[in-house]
Parts: sequence; C-alpha cells; structure tokens
Amino acid sequence: MDTHIFFFFFSASIIFILLVSPIASSHETEQVFECNGTFSCGAIQGIGYPFWGSGRPQYCGHRGFQLLCQENQFPAMDIGSQRFRVLNISRAGMMSIAPVDIWEDPCPQQLYNISLDHNLFDFAATIRNLTIFYGCPLEDDIASQNRFMCNTSNGDTHSYAYYLDESLSRIHGSELGDCGASITFPVNQRELEEVWSGTERIVDAWNKGFDVMYVKDMIPCMACRDSGGVCGSNNTSLDFLCFCPDQPYSKSCLVPGMFASSLTSSNQPFREA
Ligand SMILES: *[C@@H]1O[C@H](CO)[C@@H](O)[C@H](O)[C@H]1NC(C)=O
Ligand SMILES: *[C@@H]1O[C@H](CO)[C@@H](O)[C@H](O)[C@H]1NC(C)=O
Ligand SMILES: *[C@@H]1O[C@H](CO)[C@@H](O)[C@H](O)[C@H]1NC(C)=O
Ligand SMILES: *[C@@H]1O[C@H](CO)[C@@H](O)[C@H](O)[C@H]1NC(C)=O
Ligand SMILES: *[C@@H]1O[C@H](CO)[C@@H](O)[C@H](O)[C@H]1NC(C)=O
Ligand SMILES: *[C@@H]1O[C@H](CO)[C@@H](O)[C@H](O)[C@H]1NC(C)=O
Ligand SMILES: *[C@@H]1O[C@H](CO)[C@@H](O)[C@H](O)[C@H]1NC(C)=O
Repeated sequence: MDTHIFFFFFSASIIFILLVSPIASSHETEQVFECNGTFSCGAIQGIGYPFWGSGRPQYCGHRGFQLLCQENQFPAMDIGSQRFRVLNISRAGMMSIAPVDIWEDPCPQQLYNISLDHNLFDFAATIRNLTIFYGCPLEDDIASQNRFMCNTSNGDTHSYAYYLDESLSRIHGSELGDCGASITFPVNQRELEEVWSGTERIVDAWNKGFDVMYVKDMIPCMACRDSGGVCGSNNTSLDFLCFCPDQPYSKSCLVPGMFASSLTSSNQPFREA
C-alpha cells in the first residue's frame, strides 16, 4: 500500500470520526449496550445473535429467529408455520430442534413434512432422512424393530407405523402402499446408529432433535464483532446492522487507524505494514 494513499485514508477516517462522534445520539449507543452480550431463554443460556425474544428486542437479532421462552423449558421457535423445540444452540452456528408435536406424541394428529426456510437454515451434513409410514397394516416382512403402534379410532386395523432409512425404503417401500400417509423425517446420524443397535427407541431419537445450521448473516456478524461492534438488524428493512459506539453501519465499525469495510466493498481492514 502506497504510504501517501494510506495517510490520505487514515486522515479521512479520523476526520470522519471527529465529524460523526459529536452527533451520535445516546439512542444509538443504547443499542450497543442492549444488544451486547448474551441472554437466557428458558433452559438455554448464553444465546446471542441472530436470536432474540424474552425481552431482547428483534433488532438485536434477526426477525426469523424469535425464541419463545418459558421458565425451565426448552425454548420454542416457529419456522414457517411449524413449531419446534430448540434443544441446543451452539456458538458454531448449529442448533438442535425437534417438532413440538412429535415431542408430545410419536403419532401426531396432523402429519406434515418438515420444511425449513432455506434462507435462514440448512440441514446439518450429519442428518439422515427416515421415511415414516403411518396407518399401515401389519407387515410380516419388515422387522418389528422398525415398527411402533399408534392408537387409532373406531377399531381401524391400520394402526402400525414403520420407519425406514433410504436403503430399507428401496427394499420395502412398495410393500407399504396400503399405509395411510408417509412423511420424511430428519434424525441425527449418531442417534440413528443407537436405534439400529437397539440401545435407543426411535421416539427417543426424535426427541433428541436433529441438527440444523443457522446461516443468516453469521459471516457479516463475525466481521462486525472483530471491528468492536455488536450484531443486529434494521427494524424495517431487516438487513444486517453492525451497532458501533458512534452509529450503526451496514457491515462493521470504523476503527481508528484502520480503514474498515463500511466504506469499501472489502471486509479486510488493512493495517500499516
Ligand atoms: C449442546 O451442544 C454442545 C456442543 O455441540 C455440547 O457440548 C452439549 O453437550 C450440548 N448440550 C445438550 C444439552 O445437548
Ligand atoms: C411428504 O413428502 C413425501 C415425498 O417427499 C410425500 O410422498 C408425502 O406424501 C409427504 N407427506 C405429507 C404428509 O405431506
Ligand atoms: C433430507 O431431506 C431434505 C429435504 O427434505 C434434503 O434437503 C436433505 O438433503 C436430505 N438429506 C439427506 C442426507 O439425504
Ligand atoms: C394408546 O391408548 C392407551 C389407552 O388409552 C394408552 O395407555 C397408550 O399410552 C396409548 N398409546 C399411545 C402410543 O398413544
Ligand atoms: C460488549 O461487552 C464486552 C464484555 O462485557 C465488552 O468487552 C465489549 O467492549 C462490549 N462491546 C461494545 C461494543 O460495547
Ligand atoms: C426499532 O424500533 C424500536 C421501536 O419502534 C426503536 O426503539 C428502536 O430504536 C429501533 N431500532 C433500530 C435499530 O432502528
Ligand atoms: C433501515 O432501513 C430503512 C429502510 O430501508 C432505511 O431508511 C434506514 O436508513 C435504515 N436504518 C439504518 C440505521 O441503517
């Protein structure tokens, strides 16, 4: 980097900061305090961006990540029209979730396929898809290990449910044509191994949830934190915001002596060599 250009930008950013600082309102500084640090929601502690809820405002997170908190319980979260229990949130951008209705009953009244909002989430690479067939007659060919019973009304004999992984589905799928309905259900690979080895029941595996990655703005958030900012979002546009001591920026804070990414398209602030 040419030294003259460096000093031009260096001075420009100092002047910029001097101009901006006196007019930074306390209102904006508030968000830095309000959104900094982590919060607790029911049984989970140490939760940060992009999550919010339980008195933590939406602009400290992202709209799609509202947690519904209840004392001593795992938080709930709505993804589209489906409600999940959030069992674990890791700092590494992973969380374990389980649909609330399966949590309560392996034979839910309403059967549906899980659908994630792929703008916000992705299935972890460690999940496997099971196909679950409900309302089946007894099938002698399929191991009893792959079956459980559901209570049916009015003496219906189609009261069995079968769960098959992909290879078993290829073998037995056609035999289950008489079943009422089927759904595809994600399970963590490690839980599935426990189920196949007989040390865990399928219902327990479901209740341990499956892993999803929360992908929304995690990379901008790291850049923002590295510059001394606090991650959040714009109330109206829902765009990512980096709350800085002087004002919010779209990417990261202006760091004196560095030329932060807010004014360039690069996320790499340069340093004096
Ligand atoms: C949550 O995930 C972390 C990291 O993967 C793990 O160490 C911890 O045991 C998990 N907690 C629960 C309750 O599953
Ligand atoms: C779930 O998806 C599978 C195919 O992916 C489909 O055959 C099945 O009917 C769907 N189940 C429900 C309840 O919508
Ligand atoms: C499981 O199914 C979902 C869609 O329902 C798909 O996105 C995902 O890639 C599948 N995972 C595996 C391991 O087959
Ligand atoms: C089925 O109904 C019986 C009697 O009402 C009850 O004891 C049992 O727990 C029920 N099973 C399931 C899987 O709901
Ligand atoms: C956020 O909190 C941490 C720990 O309390 C503190 O070190 C940091 O300076 C705070 N960040 C901002 C931007 O206020
Ligand atoms: C979002 O809206 C609330 C209430 O309307 C306001 O107090 C807050 O300052 C706003 N936050 C941002 C980042 O615009
Ligand atoms: C938030 O978004 C609105 C609408 O796009 C925009 O007018 C406003 O300047 C944004 N606020 C901040 C702090 O970036």
